[in-house]
Amino acid sequence: MKSEIDSERLPKHIAIIMDGNGRWANKRALPRVFGHKAGMETLKEILRKCSDLGIEILTVYAFSTENWNRPTDEVSYLMNLLIEYMRKELNELNKNNVKVKILGDLSPLPKGTREEVEKAVSLTENNAGIQFNIALNYGSRAEIINACKEIAEDYKEGKITKEQITDDLISSYLFTSGDVEPDLIIRTSGEKRLSNFLLWQGAYSELVFVDEMWPDFNSKHLEKAIIEFQKRDRRFGLVK
Ligand code: FPP
Repeated sequence: MKSEIDSERLPKHIAIIMDGNGRWANKRALPRVFGHKAGMETLKEILRKCSDLGIEILTVYAFSTENWNRPTDEVSYLMNLLIEYMRKELNELNKNNVKVKILGDLSPLPKGTREEVEKAVSLTENNAGIQFNIALNYGSRAEIINACKEIAEDYKEGKITKEQITDDLISSYLFTSGDVEPDLIIRTSGEKRLSNFLLWQGAYSELVFVDEMWPDFNSKHLEKAIIEFQKRDRRFGLVK
């Protein structure tokens, strides 16, 4: 087995479904939110590692459009955790040249969370280091529906023709507009689903499912996932 990352063949864009925070906490007889708190620490380590490796984009699924249906306390905790994260980390992120981008509609978020997140985006918008996409109030189907509506509107107004509706055009109407597609999607906690995450963008992504709960995931596990990715034969529907 190859045991080292080939730095010539790194994924440009890694996307992660950070799953298993609740189960991690339950296993320790702790309230679920302790899992989210521990998950935040994992995220810091993984972002740092991706930046050190020279990954161009890290996308994380922080809060889905479906997550609003969780108990109110848990939703509030997550919204406050985002504020805490931004307040504590923003200077460091900025110093390390990280560019924060949000995938999702921020308008239903509590004002305090929205403001902190918007501050992070505007402060870091000209940074040229790793791009850190936070999928927040994100759902892939809602994103595609929204793109369809905007395309229909632009068609009606004569801004685009039917012939101009291509893969690239549709991509340009998504939150990830301008981003290279994820080469590698990792999901922790042993679940093997995409759960409405990057359905369009992930058409040719390599999927790696790992058993560790997100708070237990670390740089070593990330390296292993990248090595697994590098063993895959990516054909994009073609014959080699
Ligand atoms: C899924 O685990 C995780 C989430 C819904 C939240 C992820 C949030 C963080 C890691 C916090 C930090 C994020 C940022 C951007 C600061 P789960 O609760 O569904 O776990 P379970 O399946 O075991 O219940």
